[in-house]
Amino acid sequence: TTAAVTIPVVVHVLYRTSTENVSDAQVQAQIDVLNQDFAKTNTDASLIPAAFAGLAANTNVQFALAKRTPTGGATNGIIHKVTKVTSWSSNDAVKNSKRGGDDAWDATKYLNIWVCNLGQGLLGYAQFPGGSTTTDGVVVLYSSLPGGSAAPYNKGRTATHEVGHYLNLRHIWGDASCGNDLVSDTPTQQTSNYGCPTFPKVTCSNGPNGDMFMNYMDYTDDACMYMFSNGQSSRMNALFATGGARVGL
Ligand code: ARG
Ligand code: ZN
Ligand code: CA
Repeated sequence: TTAAVTIPVVVHVLYRTSTENVSDAQVQAQIDVLNQDFAKTNTDASLIPAAFAGLAANTNVQFALAKRTPTGGATNGIIHKVTKVTSWSSNDAVKNSKRGGDDAWDATKYLNIWVCNLGQGLLGYAQFPGGSTTTDGVVVLYSSLPGGSAAPYNKGRTATHEVGHYLNLRHIWGDASCGNDLVSDTPTQQTSNYGCPTFPKVTCSNGPNGDMFMNYMDYTDDACMYMFSNGQSSRMNALFATGGARVGL
């Protein structure tokens, strides 16, 4: 068992058009999805196949929009900033005010989430623990927020997936054929899954239950991913133990 951790979050909304300027309510809806998914209070947890239900985790990690700025001022934890940039890539420009983005708040104290118009079909990207504080955090496509237009990726699970990376989780297929994700209770699987597979999907001799394709760290549709495993939860929570990489949050 692990003590609950609540991570202060600052959301940087970078927009050129009014559509890209997502509302505070939509940002809060995204925080709500994160909290449900990480606590296993997501309503679709009921869809987890019985064979995997015992492995599904309440991670005890929670998220709250920041109430104080780094200098102690009042804030609602959401920054809306206009930009001339029409579309962003994974080159971290969105995290830099000098490049039309917005600088990170102290990443040892806050989870920084940038919401912007990512190009090239990119839904999101994240930085693993241990990297530069100036680029630490996650970036998500504005239309991937709950109720956005990026169907079938518009239920806020892109942020869930990216925060999984931010908390040290690898893709469930280990980014290799029958690769290793460094988590023992997630079955080894051949590659990423897309869409909404039918259970069981056996690969890499992982029968009878097959791939855990409903895991947030796969590439399935938002409506078809609804669990972290206990092993993934342990890996994330290790970051908050003494000496862990995210202990200051
Ligand atoms: N492709 C992205 C990544 O590797 C995000 C995938 C998110 N999937 C989803 N169903 N929202 O980080
Ligand atoms: Zn990923
Ligand atoms: Ca595994």
